[in-house]
Amino acid sequence: MPLKVGSGVDFVPDRDIPNLSNKVIFVTGGTGGLGKAAILTLIKKKPSKIYVTARNPSKFQDLVNEIQVENPSIQAVSILHLLNCDLADLKTVQSAAHQVLTSTTPKLDIFIGSAGVFLASPALTKDGYEVQFGTNHMSHALFIKLLLPLLQKSPDPRIVLFTSGAFAMHPAGGILFDSLHTTQEKEFRIAAPWRLYAQSKLANVLFCAELARRYADVAAVSVHPGEVYTDGFANVGQWSRRILVAMSMNKFMTPEEGSRNALWAVTAPLYKGEVGNGEGVKESEKGLVVNGSYYEPVGVPGKHMRSSTDGDLARRLWEWTEKELEKFN
Ligand SMILES: NC(=O)c1ccc[n+]([C@@H]2O[C@H](COP(=O)([O-])OP(=O)(O)OC[C@H]3O[C@@H](n4cnc5c(N)ncnc54)[C@H](OP(=O)(O)O)[C@@H]3O)[C@@H](O)[C@H]2O)c1
Repeated sequence: MPLKVGSGVDFVPDRDIPNLSNKVIFVTGGTGGLGKAAILTLIKKKPSKIYVTARNPSKFQDLVNEIQVENPSIQAVSILHLLNCDLADLKTVQSAAHQVLTSTTPKLDIFIGSAGVFLASPALTKDGYEVQFGTNHMSHALFIKLLLPLLQKSPDPRIVLFTSGAFAMHPAGGILFDSLHTTQEKEFRIAAPWRLYAQSKLANVLFCAELARRYADVAAVSVHPGEVYTDGFANVGQWSRRILVAMSMNKFMTPEEGSRNALWAVTAPLYKGEVGNGEGVKESEKGLVVNGSYYEPVGVPGKHMRSSTDGDLARRLWEWTEKELEKFN
C-alpha cells in the first residue's frame, strides 16, 4: 500500500527487505504500535531470532499468536524471544541485556528502539529520572552500551531509535541536565508534558549522531515515523489528543506505514563514505543510509534545528549519560 504522506525513498518492505536468515534482531516496545508493526514485517523475512522486550508477557503471547494465525508457515515460537523488562527500571534493562549476552547468540545485527511514552503526566522512573527522559532515552542508552560488543560482532550492525519531529519543541537550551533527577514540570508554565517529550526525543537524535561519531563501525540513525494513531495516542490526555489530531489533520498513517522509515534504516544499504554532520546528506536520494542521520519518512533527511546538530550538546549528553550509567555493567 502506498504511503499517504511525504515522498522520499521508494521503499516497499515486502519487496525491498532482503532475506534476513542468520540475522539477530532486538526490538524494544515490540508488543505494541510501531515496534509490533516492525516485527510483523521483519518476521516474514525469516530472521534467525527476534528478541522482544515486554513489560507485559501476555501482550508478547498475543503477538506470537497473531503471527501464528496470520502466517502459519512461520515458526513464531522459535524466532521470538521474550525479555521481561520495564524501561522505567534500569535494573530490568540490565538484566534483559545480560540474558542476551549470556545466551548462545553470537552477534546482534539490528537494534530497534521503539518503546516510548509520550505526553506522560509528571513522574519519575524507578531510578529517579524525569519519566519521559528516563524511559525514552536512558533505557535505550543502557541497552546500547551493554549490547554494543555484540553488535560489533555483526558484519553490518544497525541501530535505529524512534524519535519524533516534535523534538523541535524542546526546552530552551535543549536538555535541562541539572534537573533531570526531578519531574521537571516546575521548569515550565505550560505544556510541560510536550516540552519533556521533546527533550527526550531530541536526546534520541543527538545520541545516535554521537554514537556514529564515536563508533563508526556501528550505524546508528534516528527516525520520525510520521503520525500514527497507536495506543500511545489513546493514552494521552484529551487536550493533547485534540491538538495531535488537529496537527495531523486526521491524516494518520497505519502502524505498518509508520514502521517503514525504521525498517528502511536498518535494511537499506549503508553509505560507506565519511560520516556527515548528521544532516543525512543527499545519499538517501540514492537509497543509502548515512550513519548518524535523522530521517523523516521514508529516508528523507529530517529537518534539523541548531540544537539537533549541536556537537557540543551531543557530546555533553553522551558524557552525562555515561556517567549516570557507570554502575550498570
Ligand atoms: N505514534 C506516533 O505518531 C509517533 C510519532 C512520533 C514518534 N513516535 C515514537 O515512536 C515510538 C513508538 O510509538 P508508538 O506510537 O508505537 O507507541 P505505543 O503504541 O504506545 O507503543 C509503545 C510501546 O512501548 C512500550 N513501552 C512503553 N513504556 C514502557 C516501559 N516503561 N517499559 C517497557 N515497555 C514500554 C509499550 O509497551 P506495552 O505494550 O506494554 O504498552 C508499547 O509496546 C515511540 O518512541 C514514540 O515516541 C510515535
